[in-house]
Amino acid sequence: MSRVLVTGSNDGIGAEIARVLTAQGHEVIRHARNAERADGPGYVLGDLGSLRSTRVLTEQVLRVGAPDVVVHNAGWGSKDETRPVTEDGLEKTFQINALAPLLITALLPKPDRIVFVSSDSITRGRIRLDDLQHEQEWTQDAAYADSKLVMAALAFALARRWPDVRSNAVHPGWVSTKMSGYAAPLTVAQGADTPVWLAGSDDPEALVTGTFFQDRKAIELNPQAYDHALQDAVLAQCLELCDAALP
Ligand SMILES: NC(=O)c1ccc[n+]([C@@H]2O[C@H](COP(=O)([O-])OP(=O)(O)OC[C@H]3O[C@@H](n4cnc5c(N)ncnc54)[C@H](OP(=O)(O)O)[C@@H]3O)[C@@H](O)[C@H]2O)c1
Repeated sequence: MSRVLVTGSNDGIGAEIARVLTAQGHEVIRHARNAERADGPGYVLGDLGSLRSTRVLTEQVLRVGAPDVVVHNAGWGSKDETRPVTEDGLEKTFQINALAPLLITALLPKPDRIVFVSSDSITRGRIRLDDLQHEQEWTQDAAYADSKLVMAALAFALARRWPDVRSNAVHPGWVSTKMSGYAAPLTVAQGADTPVWLAGSDDPEALVTGTFFQDRKAIELNPQAYDHALQDAVLAQCLELCDAALP
């Protein structure tokens, strides 16, 4: 059994991922942005919307114990019409969905598995190395889709960098949660299924790396995610923005 960190595990798909992994016998480190959003004690706390609080959160994780598996589930999309900026001066969607998972990964010892909860919105995403944070033109949808595409590119860059780590990305489906709205057709149990499988299963099909999954099946949604030169450039730029280095 593994020690598994699940970010954003107070609500939605992440809460279900944490519940199922716990029921399977894993030791789950649950995360919420603050004590008010945690439904009990025993959470590690930290807002992923700043580099400082992401670092504070990771220190708490290390005090519990280095995880064998990290599920980067927490995610965010702005509902406002203006470009959101963090205390570090970074575009907030990019910070939460792309930089925070990378910074957490960089500050922890190398785990055995990393699961990045991305999105099929990457199909319409585009990585622009000269404008990763949409300083020239910002829309909610582009900021979200592009940040999830950067996340997938980072997952696959790590897969190449660390052949002994299984680093994969997943689209959970259109799941009924507060993020997507409660009209979405899938339950959190359905949305959690593939992330849980990638986090804990010894099924040979789950023991791969550098792969994007939906419904336990490998899919390819955007060729930019598989471009090695682009992956390396995105990884370098994101590490520089985080002021971090990989272990
Ligand atoms: N639902 C879908 O149809 C769908 C589709 C594609 C991808 N996804 C992805 O699936 C993942 C889970 O989403 P969900 O649908 O379960 O949405 P959700 O219910 O809104 O859960 C998102 C989780 O991320 C946390 N989070 C957001 N911003 C944070 C921040 N600044 N600091 C710390 N934690 C933060 C939330 O905390 P709070 O509860 O405090 O806000 C919550 O725990 C996300 O990465 C999302 O992008 C979902």
